[in-house]
Order: sequence, then structure tokens, then C-alpha cells
Amino acid sequence: MTSLTIARPDDWHLHLRDGAMMRAVLPHTAQHFARAIIMPNLVPPVVTGAQALAYRDRILAALPEGMDFAPLMTLYLTEDTDPDDVEAAHASGLVKAVKLYPAGATTNSASGVADFGKIRDTLDRMAKIGLPLCVHGEVTDGDVDIFDREAVFIDRVLDPLRRATPGLRVVMEHITTSNAVDYARAQDDTLAATITTHHLVINRNHILAGGIKPHYYCLPVAKREEHRLALRNAATSGETRFFLGTDSAPHTDANKLLPCGCAGCFTAPNTMAILAQVFEEDAALDHLETFTSRNGPNFYGLPVNDTTITLTKTPSTMPTHVNTEEGPVTVFDPGFPLEWSAH
Ligand code: NCD
Ligand code: ZN
Repeated sequence: MTSLTIARPDDWHLHLRDGAMMRAVLPHTAQHFARAIIMPNLVPPVVTGAQALAYRDRILAALPEGMDFAPLMTLYLTEDTDPDDVEAAHASGLVKAVKLYPAGATTNSASGVADFGKIRDTLDRMAKIGLPLCVHGEVTDGDVDIFDREAVFIDRVLDPLRRATPGLRVVMEHITTSNAVDYARAQDDTLAATITTHHLVINRNHILAGGIKPHYYCLPVAKREEHRLALRNAATSGETRFFLGTDSAPHTDANKLLPCGCAGCFTAPNTMAILAQVFEEDAALDHLETFTSRNGPNFYGLPVNDTTITLTKTPSTMPTHVNTEEGPVTVFDPGFPLEWSAH
């Protein structure tokens, strides 16, 4: 196959940031994606419906002329979240999900949840109104090995939380382990899981073997090769519960290349070209549209986009950096030349 036209993809987990950084990275998503679930981990976080509305307006104001893109807003769940505010933001059509960060799990998660008893009313309300919970699924306990934090979260937090909140729709975000794939496969259709581009390409050796590579450091951290292969199998399977959430997370090189560098891979510019290659390698190009463009809207109860994108088998050269007023941001390097281009 040398050309493939599919329904325009959506990104079900994206960090756009704000201000100058947002202006620089937004066009790279909007050139290929029709919609994206926008992460609320700004500083300070997007907690209320009013804050989400203002953030959406800033995103739309930063969108270059002639580009078509719909930001799907989320609220950052805190122990003080007001269920009535959540319900109103959902009823108005503004907010499509609520985001759960365990306190301290990742970048800008200090206001996240430590005491899960305090979010019970909000979770019950969300189950009642059918608003999905997007979950960063890692425990933060210092005594749990960082490579085990996702698997432990499933047993200690996610499964009990779902049992206590029947009907709650949950997205396990950016899954990185075969444990998560197996758990997702064993659940009913209230549960879905997103998979990033970079976790289909790298394992933990890419970060740590032959010198430390800060640009491959993200959270959840990439795991062993057997886990990467389980993610490849899930993403390319065509199963409805798995869909794309890039977790494209731009940080300036200055902030990545520190003794204590930020977590995040910036994949927005080359995600579609990389995915075409990944799916072709796994003889699954016929499932690419399912993963990038159909399963997500199906879970969120939204229409599939009626516009398309065409992928052609012509080598693409990506810039290694995107320049922002805050400094350069390195684009994720898949480690192989790109054989596909996205138009
Ligand atoms: C994200 C970020 O930079 O905001 N970083 C990351 O490594 N993925 C936060 C997150 O989604 O964990
Ligand atoms: Zn993220």
C-alpha cells in the first residue's frame, strides 16, 4: 500500500500548555487532528468550569487562521472539586472528561488527589451523568518501584475505585504495561485505554542504555520490551477499547536537560507518520483508522470526523526542534527514518 485515506484522527490526551508555548505547538496538532482532549495540568491547574471556558477561548484565539480544530476540555479533579460545577460544565457541552492525577504522580500534579474518599461525591455524580474519568494510573508511594507503579495502581486504586462507582466510565491513560492491557481486556465497555505513540516505539533501554536520553523520559516511564510488544498488540488489534492519546507533552530543552529534568515526549508533529509505519510493520494498516479515528469518538459518544487525512508512503523529514519564544522543544526521535508522510 502506498497511500491511505482515513477519517481525520483525534488525540484523546494532549498537553497544549498556555501562552507562547501553546502558540508554538498548537499548529502541529491542528495540522493532523480534528479534536483533542486537552489536559488541565497548567500552573495553576484548570479546576473549574469557568477556568476551562477561559482556557478554551485562549486555545481558539491561538489557532492560526484557516485551521480547523476543536479543543475538548477537561477539569482537573481535586479534593475540593464541586460536583455541581462539574455537572454544569458537562451539561453545557464544554467539558468532556475529568482528569484524575494522584497527587505528586507527574508534572504539575501537586493539586491532585491524595485522599480518594474526598472525591467520592464527584465520582458518583460523574457516573450518574455519564462523564468519563481520565486516569493517570500510577501510585506515588516512595516504596513502590517506578517501573511497578502502574501495575500496583490497577490493583490498589483503579479496580477498587471502579467497583465502588458502578457505571463510571473510565479511561486508563497512556498505558505502558501488559498488566494494563490484560486488565482493560477483561472489563466491560465502561472502560477504555489510550496508548501513546512513543510507548509503541521505545522501551526502557532507549532511555537508559548507552547513555541517559532525557528526551525519552516521560511518565509513565517506558517499561521492558515485553510490555512494548503488548502495547503494539493492543493498539494494532482493532479492539474498540484501545485508542490513541499521544500525551504529546512539550517542555523546552532547557527544562528537559537538567539534573532533575521534566517528564514528557513531544510527538505532535510526527505522530501520524510514525503510527503509519508502526501499523505497516505489524501488518495492521487496516486498523490504523480504528485506533486513531474511530474508537475514541465511539467511547466518548461523539461522531467520527467527516473530514479525512491522507498518509502516503513517501519519506518525511521532520524538524528536530520546534522553536518557541521560551526556547527550542525537541521533537520525539523514533530512532528510524520516517517512511510515511501525513497530509
Ligand atoms: C506530562 C506533562 O509534561 O505535563 N508528562 C509526561 O511525561 N507525560 C504529564 C503527564 O501526562 O504525566
Ligand atoms: Zn499527559
